[in-house]
Amino acid sequence: MHLRKKTLEEMDAFEKLMNNNLFFLDRKNHLRLRKLALPAFSPRIMDQMKARFQILCKERFDEIGTPESFNFAKEVSEMFPTQAIASLVGIPRDKFPIFDSLAYGVVRGINPMLTPDQRKEAIKGVPEGLELLNDLINEKRTHPEDDFLSTLILAEDEGSKLSNTEMCALVGAVLGAGSDTAVDLHSYLIKNLLSHPNQLKALKNDESLVQGAISETLRYEPSGKTGLARYASEDLDIKGNHIQKGQMVQLITNTAGMDSSIYDEPRRFDIRRNHDKSISFGQGPHYCIGVTLVRSQTEVMLKELFKRFPDLSMGDEIIYDYNHHNARRMDVMTVKTNIS
Ligand code: HEM
Repeated sequence: MHLRKKTLEEMDAFEKLMNNNLFFLDRKNHLRLRKLALPAFSPRIMDQMKARFQILCKERFDEIGTPESFNFAKEVSEMFPTQAIASLVGIPRDKFPIFDSLAYGVVRGINPMLTPDQRKEAIKGVPEGLELLNDLINEKRTHPEDDFLSTLILAEDEGSKLSNTEMCALVGAVLGAGSDTAVDLHSYLIKNLLSHPNQLKALKNDESLVQGAISETLRYEPSGKTGLARYASEDLDIKGNHIQKGQMVQLITNTAGMDSSIYDEPRRFDIRRNHDKSISFGQGPHYCIGVTLVRSQTEVMLKELFKRFPDLSMGDEIIYDYNHHNARRMDVMTVKTNIS
């Protein structure tokens, strides 16, 4: 059966978003979009995001207060990644719930296991979220500032500029790629540090090990269940396996961290390891565009967490969501604050 590709008019808001997504574009269009998007992820814009996120982070921990224990997975991991992206995009605080619904739609709607009704329910917040984004973009077109959206608006490559739809799709891709992944990183980072007291002690004595702890968590306990999909652009043979042009190959990069020819004693959690050969953030033209953002937001969270709860320890309960379509998600991970 030959499936005809839908025309733009036939697509719903969610499909239009996916149609321009960095992950699904052909090589030429991907290169163009990536080149135009890169300046918006510059160190200057990342610093702005960090400053805004630091405030949000403090507010969140104020809300958590000083309980005996709390569910870190729900109260921290699930909240922060979308808030960091909202800070990056410049969403006003009172519009966060609308942005949250857009994030929910983008992250859940992509699940191929959903029935049509479940998908419709998951993406119901997408049109309102897109309206909010379009309003913001139009406002920035009239009054550009030194921020993420204005940088996207002003970006130009050989006379070509980003349309509103492309900018919305970029924010959609950022939400799709940067929400779920970062949720799990937060949970597994804390789980591994609290389960390896010597490593936690080393980190407390030397804060410069934070980035090593993040890289080691992604190596030691990557959360993705699926690999990176690629389509062969020509016939080729890899170690006796024939792959035909057009065939899909799944690169299971998560197992790379356990390669004993690269990592000595791979089952040992060691935040001082050399991670120069890590492929946790990909490699090549699709290399993660949000790497600085996620490293920075996780560092902010970690420092604030141990400032508030210096004697934090693992709680009694971890509940995994075994039905999660692409991640080893923890719904519950309790931590004890040990505040006297
Ligand atoms: C722990 C967190 C994260 C991990 C492990 C991760 C991992 C990755 C990997 C492996 C790729 C390459 C995919 C491929 O080659 O097919 C990628 C691409 C990408 N990531 Fe991340 N990522 C993380 C967080 C983020 C964040 C926070 C953002 C957004 C701010 C983000 C935005 C993107 C985008 C837009 C792409 C596509 C780039 C392109 O196709 O040119 N990621 N990420």
